[in-house]
Amino acid sequence: MEKYLINPNQKIATINKNIYGHFSEHLGRCIYDGIYVGDKSSIPNKNGMRCDVVEALKEMGLPVLRWPGGCFADEYHWKDGIGPKENRKKMINTHWGGVLEDNSFGTHEYFELCEQIGCDTYINGNVGSGTVQEMSEWVEYMTFDGISPMADLRKQNGREKPWKVDYFGVGNESWGCGGNMDPEYYGCLFKRYNTYCRDYKRGEHIRRIACGPNAGDYHWTKEVMDKVKHHANGISLHYYTVPTGNWGHKGSATQFDKNEYDSTICKAYYMDELITNHLAVMDSVNPQKWVKLIVDEWGTWYDVEPGTNPGFLYQQSTMRDAIVAGVTLNIFNKHADRVEMANIAQTVNVLQSVILTEGNKMVKTPTYHVFKMYKEHQNNTLIGSYLTTDSLSSKNDNKDFPQLNESASIDENGVIYSTITNSSSQKSAKIKCQIADRKVKSVKATIITGECHDKNDFDNSDVVEIKEFTDFRQLRDGFTTTIPACSVVKFVIE
Ligand code: AHR
Repeated sequence: MEKYLINPNQKIATINKNIYGHFSEHLGRCIYDGIYVGDKSSIPNKNGMRCDVVEALKEMGLPVLRWPGGCFADEYHWKDGIGPKENRKKMINTHWGGVLEDNSFGTHEYFELCEQIGCDTYINGNVGSGTVQEMSEWVEYMTFDGISPMADLRKQNGREKPWKVDYFGVGNESWGCGGNMDPEYYGCLFKRYNTYCRDYKRGEHIRRIACGPNAGDYHWTKEVMDKVKHHANGISLHYYTVPTGNWGHKGSATQFDKNEYDSTICKAYYMDELITNHLAVMDSVNPQKWVKLIVDEWGTWYDVEPGTNPGFLYQQSTMRDAIVAGVTLNIFNKHADRVEMANIAQTVNVLQSVILTEGNKMVKTPTYHVFKMYKEHQNNTLIGSYLTTDSLSSKNDNKDFPQLNESASIDENGVIYSTITNSSSQKSAKIKCQIADRKVKSVKATIITGECHDKNDFDNSDVVEIKEFTDFRQLRDGFTTTIPACSVVKFVIE
C-alpha cells in the first residue's frame, strides 16, 4: 500500500492558470480548418471561427493562447495579415508543408479568437527575419491608444480600441529555425528588439519572453540569462517527448509496444529534471528569481499519420498521451513557484493536440479530457503533498521512472483537488491517503482510463472520456483507493 500525505497547511505558491496554456501556429490544419474556416464556410462559425472548437476550448478552460508560431513566427511579417482580406498577400508556407498561406487569419482574427475563448494573449514576434522597426510597430499597432501611424492604421482597419497583449515573445527557437544564433548574440539582440516594444498603457506591462533553451542546453540558458535578466520577465524552454529519441523515425502515435510505451513515459518525466536544472542555472544568474520559466512548447511528437502531409505534423492521440499530459501537468503544478506559463503543442490537428477535426466533424482527444479534468487547479494554491511509489523501468532508456505522480491544490473555499497518474500499462496501485489536520466531509472522484492504445476517432469519439470513479473508501482523515493501470484520477476532498 502506497502512502499519500497531503498537508493543506503548507501553502506553496499560486498555480498560474497559464500553466494550462496552448499553442497554435500557422502549421498544417491547426489555424486553417482546425480553428478558422472563414465566415463563408458551411461549418457553423462566428466571424470565421469554428463554433464547435471554440465551445470545446472554453469548456476545457483554455487560459492563454500562443500565436503565430513556432518557426512560422520568425518568417511572419504581420503587415501581410491586416486590412481587407482580398488584398492580403498570398504566399507559400515554406517551413510547413509548402501550402498556400493567404493571410486571412492575422492579428485582428487572433484577438477575435481570444475574445471568443476568453483567454489571455501571447504573441510571438519575429527576430529571425524581421526588423526592430517591424516588431516595434506591431506592438504599437496592437496596444497604442493615442495618435500614431500604427494606431491610425488599426483604426482604418476597423478596430478603434487597442487590444491587450499579455505576453510578447521576442523571437522563437533563435538557436534553430529562428536564426541559428549563438546565445550571446541572441541575448544582445533580445535587448535591442525589446527596447522598442513599448508599454503604451500606464499600469499595463506586456510580459516579455526571451527565447530560452532547447531541452538540456544549459549553456544557452546561462548565456542568455546573463544578458537579459534585467529586461525579460520570462525565458522559454522547449522540450518534446519523442518515444524513440530519433527524429528520423519517431515512432507511430497509435501502434507501439510496451517498450515504446514505457520509453515515452520515461521521457515525459525528463521534464522534471529539465525544469529543476534550468531553474538552478537561472537562479545562479538571477538569485532574486524575477525571471520566470515559460515552457511554451511541450508534448509528444510522433511520425505523422500515414498518408498525411509530413509538413503538417498531424498525429492521433491515445491513452499514452493522456498519461504524458497528466504526468507533465502535475510536474508543472509542483514547480508553480517558478513556472509561470506552459503551452502544449498544438491546440488542433498538430502534434499532441486536444482537438482533431475532419471537415465539419470534431473529436476531443484523451489529452483534452486531462486538461478539462485538471482545470480546477488553475489559480488554486499548490499545497504540500507526498506520495510513495514503485519504480517502473524503461528498457530502451535503461532508466527507471516513478509509477505514480501527483499534485494537490486548494481553492479559496478550502476544497482540495488531488490529481494522480498511474503510468503503468499493467499494474494497479493501492494508496492510503491521509490529510493533515482535516476531518474529511466528502470525497468525490473522476477518472480517465483505458488500455494504453485506446483513442477517440471520427467513428468512435467517446472511447476515452472522464467518468465517475467510485473505487475508494472515505476515512475520517482521508481515503484508501486502488488506482487502475494506465489512468489519471482526480479526487475532490471537502
Ligand atoms: O511545434 C512545432 C515546431 O516545433 C515549432 O514551430 C518550433 O518552434 C518547434 O521546433
